[in-house]
Amino acid sequence: MTLAQERTLASKVRADFPILHQQIHGKPLVYLDNAATSQKPKAALDALMHYYQNDNANVHRGVHTLSSRATDGYEGARDKVAAFVNAAKREEIVYTRNASEAINLVAYAWGSTLQAGDEIILSVMEHHSNLIPWQLLAKRTGVVLKFVELTETQEFDFEQYKSLLSDRTKLVSVVHVSNTLGCINPVKAIAAEAHRYGAKVLVDACQSLPHMPVDVQDLDCDWLVGSGHKMCAPTGIGFLYGKLDVLREMPPFLGGGEMIADVFLDHSTYADVPHKFEAGTPAIAEAIGLGAAVDYLTRVGMDKIHAYEQELTLYLYHQLGQIPEVVTYGPKPNADASNRAALASFTTGTVHPHDLSTILDQAGIAIRAGHHCTQPLHRYIKAQSTARASLYFYNTKEEVDVFIASLKEAIAFFGDIFG
Ligand code: ALA
Repeated sequence: MTLAQERTLASKVRADFPILHQQIHGKPLVYLDNAATSQKPKAALDALMHYYQNDNANVHRGVHTLSSRATDGYEGARDKVAAFVNAAKREEIVYTRNASEAINLVAYAWGSTLQAGDEIILSVMEHHSNLIPWQLLAKRTGVVLKFVELTETQEFDFEQYKSLLSDRTKLVSVVHVSNTLGCINPVKAIAAEAHRYGAKVLVDACQSLPHMPVDVQDLDCDWLVGSGHKMCAPTGIGFLYGKLDVLREMPPFLGGGEMIADVFLDHSTYADVPHKFEAGTPAIAEAIGLGAAVDYLTRVGMDKIHAYEQELTLYLYHQLGQIPEVVTYGPKPNADASNRAALASFTTGTVHPHDLSTILDQAGIAIRAGHHCTQPLHRYIKAQSTARASLYFYNTKEEVDVFIASLKEAIAFFGDIFG
């Protein structure tokens, strides 16, 4: 697909995102903070409004019409998410508030079956959400955390990973696409190696699910987590995919309504999965919004989105490469950008990322500055903080041009002051 065709794709979808059509400080908004959260298509917003205006009731409890409509919407969205990740069964999708909660769920429920001396392999590029739940588990149980480091090109060091695996390894929990480095990790091969030792595999797919087809059966992971708000859905909804037998063996996480079979004063029995893990009134509207978002992404086509973003990646890196002061982190894109995502974390030497973000905001451009919830990774790559431009399928080459022009201006301005 050529960039001209991709622009057609972007221009086709931009009308679906009302928020994009506004000015910030008198300039058209250029939203390049999609790794933090994506914007929402009208289809997802309409689904939320429709639910509250027509169907609002609690799920599973009532037999009245509104309750069955709410339940149908909530459970129907589960079918959509299951199809989106190609889960074998709808029961393999557990709703959570976000990916962080999904990882905490596994760390508490499944993690409680581990013993001191058992080992968990993570990588140095993990988001804090895929570090802290395991650190807490290590404190509680004495499990040992081991870390895969980076290659010279700042990618997952597969050879070192293999050297960490042993019969003591009980879990490998890794990110699919790094939110800072942008590298796409070989999670299918990672899972295959882990399974040779009988270890389980959790994939943090927050930054892959919105951007490329993800097939849990093909990856053969035991768990996979995602956050709705990064994939065109509302905040407050995410999910845990787990193989059915793995989920069934796990004890409950949170206790309360919805997750029970029978309750007595001194003990209880629990519902089957997925409801065993969905205590309390869930985020019904948000789940329905997630279903609408998944429908929308499927209509646009995940293959098309991925191909479009690969072209944008090449363009972004080509343009950044013209600015001598810019240092990017993570692997450079290969010929077709199949090795990385459409985001660039970078430093410029003189301009602090926070200053840069503030200056670009004056030009209507939203980027993120800081550690992007990957402090250990920033220490590892010896960057106190980075600026990050992260793109989505509604971004255009022209927006990259606007970003690059403002970046050059900022560098020139600070160069004059401090140069
Ligand atoms: N972890 C999200 C990011 O990368 C919030 O910005």
